[in-house]
Amino acid sequence: MRVLEKKDEVRNLVARARVGGRKIGLVPTMGFFHEGHLELMRLCRSRCGLCLVSIFVNPTQFGPAEDFDRYPRDLERDRALAEAESVDLIFAPAVEEMYAPDSSTVVLENLVSRGLCGLGRPGHFQGVATVVAKLFNIVQPDMAFFGRKDLQQLAVIRRMVRDLDFPVRVEAAPIVREPDGLALSSRNVYLEPEQRARAPGLYRALYRGAGMFSGAKGDTSPLLNEIHREIESATGGRLEYLSAVDEEMEEVDDASDCRYLAAALHLGPVRLIDNVEVA
Ligand code: PAF
Repeated sequence: MRVLEKKDEVRNLVARARVGGRKIGLVPTMGFFHEGHLELMRLCRSRCGLCLVSIFVNPTQFGPAEDFDRYPRDLERDRALAEAESVDLIFAPAVEEMYAPDSSTVVLENLVSRGLCGLGRPGHFQGVATVVAKLFNIVQPDMAFFGRKDLQQLAVIRRMVRDLDFPVRVEAAPIVREPDGLALSSRNVYLEPEQRARAPGLYRALYRGAGMFSGAKGDTSPLLNEIHREIESATGGRLEYLSAVDEEMEEVDDASDCRYLAAALHLGPVRLIDNVEVA
């Protein structure tokens, strides 16, 4: 497995693989791998002849008061984990390699990114869409792999690919959870033991809520209020949002239109996000 830091080196290596007829797969990440990332690599490995993982903590998707500086990083550990998954190539550029100092062009998705996390994290999805577009242009993958935990991110990227005609097939992998239900996230390491013990209350309430929504009709408010109360009392955290949304991340008023329950919860120093599909 090779670790490359320069865009041109990646372009050259990918071009050679393409001439050899291999399908190119990209797993964009910010590193500090957990089982969710490894699942994406396995999916990529099973579908593509060249499996490339990018590791880049992207400054443009963090707000000024967010955790860019203390986002967990461990390239040596990531390298060993990726190698064990038979990844062919890691692309780990420096910020200066990815962004010119006077970089002034962005990708702005204007609909799917507006609600949910877009409200609490202004500029976040612009940063995500821009860096993913750049990675697509550098790697030119046939397929790219994203996790469903970041459901809105997935929807924004699908929309960008459609609207800007990127010749990339976007594949989504299921959320990977701890045995107690907590969705895996690199940021879970920040939870104190007591917060960690209460964190699965988010998933449990969403799961129960999805059962309440399934087959329900009419106003979503009474159901959402009940789930809201349950999440906050089970976790001791503060909900940033709890929303009933359709496939395009639009909030729905009628329970029968709800496709997902999605939430962001502040628990101690961590902002947890999670979602559950309504069957
Ligand atoms: O999901 C992530 O890790 C990041 O948002 C992504 C897609 C790698 C873009 O920086």
